[in-house]
Amino acid sequence: MGTREDMYGLFTSVNEINLNGERNRGDAKDGKLKNNIATSYDLQAQMSKKGILWNWGFHDDQIAKEMNARIPDFLNYDTDGFSEELYFFALKQVPFDLDDFAEKSVLEVGCGLGEGLNFLSRVTKAAGMVGLDLSEQAVKRANASLSRDGLSYVQGDAENLPFEDGEFDVVLNIESAHNYPNLEKFLAEVARVLKPGGYFSHVDLFTTQRHAHMQELKEKDLGLEWIHERDISAEVRAAVHRRLAPDGSFHKALQGQRMGMVQRHMAKRVGPEAVGGSFAGYYDSRSTKLLKKMGLLPAQFMPPVDSYRHIVAKKR
Ligand SMILES: C[S@@+](CC[C@H](N)C(=O)[O-])C[C@H]1O[C@@H](n2cnc3c(N)ncnc32)[C@H](O)[C@@H]1O
Repeated sequence: MGTREDMYGLFTSVNEINLNGERNRGDAKDGKLKNNIATSYDLQAQMSKKGILWNWGFHDDQIAKEMNARIPDFLNYDTDGFSEELYFFALKQVPFDLDDFAEKSVLEVGCGLGEGLNFLSRVTKAAGMVGLDLSEQAVKRANASLSRDGLSYVQGDAENLPFEDGEFDVVLNIESAHNYPNLEKFLAEVARVLKPGGYFSHVDLFTTQRHAHMQELKEKDLGLEWIHERDISAEVRAAVHRRLAPDGSFHKALQGQRMGMVQRHMAKRVGPEAVGGSFAGYYDSRSTKLLKKMGLLPAQFMPPVDSYRHIVAKKR
């Protein structure tokens, strides 16, 4: 499969998962969706620059202040900090003190290139941190460049976690679950690998359909007690706006790259969608509309995201 087909596969799969919910599912179909997703993230892992995270980010002045106090000056080095801020926020909302992780083990499901977990390994000193991702290339890269004592990465599927029962005190999940065809299987796996009294901190984008499905699952007995849910759309939009501003990191990164005119145009016009542009109110340019009409770009990249949420559960 070529690059364009891979990306088409990703967008089609993500839309299908988030708009159709659990309807018309089946293992064979789920397998195909996952293949599309893995292939596309493999490709992105090969193309991404070092230090890159793959989420839309989060910004709140107070959270940013606390994060910068914990890791002074990190913003001076090649990041706008918004994606790291989302990680910091997700970990901080777990009701364990950040200075009390010495005996705790943390799993991140859907860790991408591993940079977010690597960042958290500097925020708190945990006994062990493991990142898991479906993309073999992302995991290979994370292990080659980031793993060390107490921080490692494994390839695997969120719906079938390769861990023993009760291995972890905390499970994190950042902007990844909208890719999982079977959300119920994933939540059951989270409950299985958590220790009793352990916490699940979950951050993701939701269509109205997917959120309704999540609410249904919260009513089921999956071994998790749902203790907190908050709509963090405003904080996510604040980060996307700063990132996409003319002097923001999105345009700065493009300035430094060598590419042809057409490629640059595509990156400038199409790229914002991948970093949350339409959720934050940016519209397609006329040329993007035309490319979509001609079938050169998928008609809908991201599903119509209605909210971005943070949810916490405790293992019974
Ligand atoms: C938008 S990226 C977010 C990555 C990372 N959490 C971050 O914020 O940088 C979504 C990630 O979820 C991973 N993913 C998708 N489906 C998965 C599955 N079934 N099991 C594990 N990881 C999956 C993708 O490979 C990708 O790395």
